[in-house]
Amino acid sequence: MADLAHGNRSPVTCHLRCGDACFQDVPNTTETSYFRDIAATALSRRSILGAAAVGTATVALSSQPAAALFRSTAVTGKSGTPTAGSLSFTPIAPVAKTVDAFTVPTGYRWDPIIRWGDPIFDGAPVFDAANQSAAAQGQQFGYNCDYLDIIVTDRKGTRALLVANHEYTNEGIMFPPGMDAAELIRTAWAAHGLSVVELRRKSTGSTWSYVPNGSRNRRITLDTPFTVDGPAAGSELLKTAADPTGRRILGTMNNCAGGTTPWGTVLSGEENFNQYFYRDALSATPQEKRYGIGAQDTRNWRSVDERWDATKHPNEPNRFGWIVEIDPEDPKSTPVKHTAMGRFKHEGANVIINGDGKVVAYMGDDERFDYVYRFVSRDAYRGGGKKSDRAHNLTLLANGDLSVARFTGDGLEDGVSDGTGEWIPLTANGVSVVPGFTTEQVLVFTRLAADAVQPTKMDRPEDVEPNYVNGFIYVACTNNADRGKVGKEGTTEPNPRNLNKDGHVVEIQPNGGDHTSSTFSWNLILICGDSASAGTYFGGWTGPVSPISCPDNVAFDSVGNLWVSTDGQPGTIGLNDGLFKVPVAGPERGHVQQFLAVPTEAETCGPVIHDQDGSVFVSVQHPGENGSWAAQTSRFPDYVSATGTAAPGDFAGPRPTVVQVTRG
Ligand code: FEO
Ligand code: CA
Ligand code: CA
Repeated sequence: MADLAHGNRSPVTCHLRCGDACFQDVPNTTETSYFRDIAATALSRRSILGAAAVGTATVALSSQPAAALFRSTAVTGKSGTPTAGSLSFTPIAPVAKTVDAFTVPTGYRWDPIIRWGDPIFDGAPVFDAANQSAAAQGQQFGYNCDYLDIIVTDRKGTRALLVANHEYTNEGIMFPPGMDAAELIRTAWAAHGLSVVELRRKSTGSTWSYVPNGSRNRRITLDTPFTVDGPAAGSELLKTAADPTGRRILGTMNNCAGGTTPWGTVLSGEENFNQYFYRDALSATPQEKRYGIGAQDTRNWRSVDERWDATKHPNEPNRFGWIVEIDPEDPKSTPVKHTAMGRFKHEGANVIINGDGKVVAYMGDDERFDYVYRFVSRDAYRGGGKKSDRAHNLTLLANGDLSVARFTGDGLEDGVSDGTGEWIPLTANGVSVVPGFTTEQVLVFTRLAADAVQPTKMDRPEDVEPNYVNGFIYVACTNNADRGKVGKEGTTEPNPRNLNKDGHVVEIQPNGGDHTSSTFSWNLILICGDSASAGTYFGGWTGPVSPISCPDNVAFDSVGNLWVSTDGQPGTIGLNDGLFKVPVAGPERGHVQQFLAVPTEAETCGPVIHDQDGSVFVSVQHPGENGSWAAQTSRFPDYVSATGTAAPGDFAGPRPTVVQVTRG
């Protein structure tokens, strides 16, 4: 493990979450992006004053069907008329990175809903960190919760399903020294994946509790069978000794962000899968190198199961890096990996129903200098509410076309980073349109197919989500400390800072409000940082803002305000990560206001904004990540002292936790 992490990032996070991705060579070794603009200079926030207003155009809105369930985040707002909503607050002051506390605005309270290790089945053992096992972990809430949704399932608003991803494990703080090595690895497999957990509460306005024996409670782990659909299902590229069909894959992993579909399923992105495989780096193929396979093997899983040795099982890595879909309503359903949506380091996927009924999914490939993608379904959504309609909707992501974004700047003489763009097709009518690539190759080696059509290299695109109120898409580019370094691409108008440590947010307006259009316009609504960061920009807002760095996940409230959670502020601006509200229209467009801060060494994930219900939910991921079993650096959320006696189920160390924030 490196002594110092890239860009002052926690070395533990770099190693365990991404396999030290930023220490490896940039996998994208193509020449510079296709780009027709001038080299951008650092933008002064003040230089933006008086610039033409952006983001005020109205578009034909996609009318989003109500989800199959009763979501309290019902789409009710109108374009261009955001209000404070029912979730008014006074921004909190920034919180120093050493503070081991969860911080909320005056008038609000926070409560854990569920923590790593909480039992979710009848008979599941009470959490006992000193004596964990694979069998126990498989019946408990997993580690490092990331993507989150709270899906309300009854008209009274007192029943819900919680769905969370569990991205990765931190063995050094999870397990006591001396644990059997093979059991530790199997326990880590059981701590990955997803959880589905029923919630209930007495009435709207009260806090949620999880149901320990809910009939729909479910763990999905590295042992859970998945089916494969789409054009690459059954491909020779997916077949292994254990699965000669290429259609049945055991497990999902490194699940990062995601999205809930209008038909009530959850999409989850398999992100830094490469790091779990061993590959002799010298003999790695170009395809493997483009995905970063061969350099990491962070956990020595091959010592327990040979499938993690890609030298012996070269197709096994091809079976990860997909968008997976799970049906939280049916605990017996088999989750699916969708090959039509391409294979890369998927941050997540978020869908919107276009005016013609086509389902459009937006996706980011979270790597330095990688790309933004779009999937358009072949078939149209059916919103009739019949059982047959839902069965049809469950097939929508099996067939469609994939494209990749090219952003063109119009120059910085206008004082803003903005321009037009196009979606470059990788497939059309389900068939490859990339010269030299079969359809299966486009879908399994999507990064290489995209390289061939010269998209725009972005600064680590994470969440890419449509805003159902204004119909625009927001792309969180978290950072890229390599931009402008010797031999690397320098600034472009959509990525306007070299050594970009603070990140930015792109706002995309589909042409005519049509999400299937091949063209769009775009602008940077946020160029993040604090008062010491060069070139910040906050949507034209010139009043005070909360400092913000490393935007990662985005969400929207019922009136279309953007909410941004961050991952990396401790290393860049010395503050705990947080959640921020940002109006995207009206006089306060760009006014960044911090709503909460997570404890020391944690990132804020999966924000869910139920503003009409007066509540906000976040996943607190990797609190106290830099500690060790013997010297924990966080005791969130139980706050049991190191010398005190923990009550049964509590822990004198950090526990990744889903937190609800309510008025109180
Ligand atoms: Fe898992 Fe891109 O963050
Ligand atoms: Ca411009
Ligand atoms: Ca993320």
